[in-house]
Amino acid sequence: MQRLHTGVPRHVAIIMDGNGRWATARHLPRMAGHNRGMESVRAVLETCGRRGIEYLTLFAFSSENWHRPADEVSTLMRLFVSALQREVVKLVENDVRLRVVGERNTLDPELRRLIAEAEERTAANTRLQLTLCVSYGGRWDIVQAARAAAREQGIEALDEASLERHLALAFAPEPDLLIRTGGEQRISNFLLWQCAYAELYFTHALWPDFSAAAFDEALAWYAQRERRFGRTSQQLAANS
Ligand code: FPP
Repeated sequence: MQRLHTGVPRHVAIIMDGNGRWATARHLPRMAGHNRGMESVRAVLETCGRRGIEYLTLFAFSSENWHRPADEVSTLMRLFVSALQREVVKLVENDVRLRVVGERNTLDPELRRLIAEAEERTAANTRLQLTLCVSYGGRWDIVQAARAAAREQGIEALDEASLERHLALAFAPEPDLLIRTGGEQRISNFLLWQCAYAELYFTHALWPDFSAAAFDEALAWYAQRERRFGRTSQQLAANS
């Protein structure tokens, strides 16, 4: 859905990259970078609350991340479990609603149980909609949505609107701003459909170094962007 540019994004999506490099540069195990990355998650959450951002979507674990060394995968999964156990009270206190999207059936039953519990405990919260993408891939999302839409109404009637209703983030407006830390300039199978018109912000900061001030810089950059959605600058000026 397209809308006027107000300067503050309603929906920010983030690819949190660079944890491993942050740790390696300090001769620490990669997991130390992921742990430290949790502090950046907190800082970004607080900034969203302060700035009135309504939706924050974080790429916590991609479909492709399953190919990492088994010990890194299992320690990351343990980090998700402990984060859910520890942080859910703070989410409730701060009126944050948590959703986890992705291929749930690939996750450990205990993690699935904690996710369901955290989603239920925060279901009535409205200040900020926090979505963690875990075992998520943009292509998976499009395929599962297309299947569901085709089942519902038949393949011939499938169109953009009917597919969108079945995407994992159907409850949210499309991201206005996609941030990727860690220096790479690619989307890496994140919200492929939903980011068609997102402003893309790439920074060399590694995720554990992405502070509230760094996030504010990204927001200031976003506020300067002209969002045309295929129209011309003149058309936008005439409508404003
Ligand atoms: C990418 O860095 C980061 C990840 C695959 C994991 C991200 C997870 C967190 C920051 C923890 C957040 C958890 C919750 C519950 C929100 P990388 O390992 O690819 O870094 P590299 O490119 O330097 O190797």
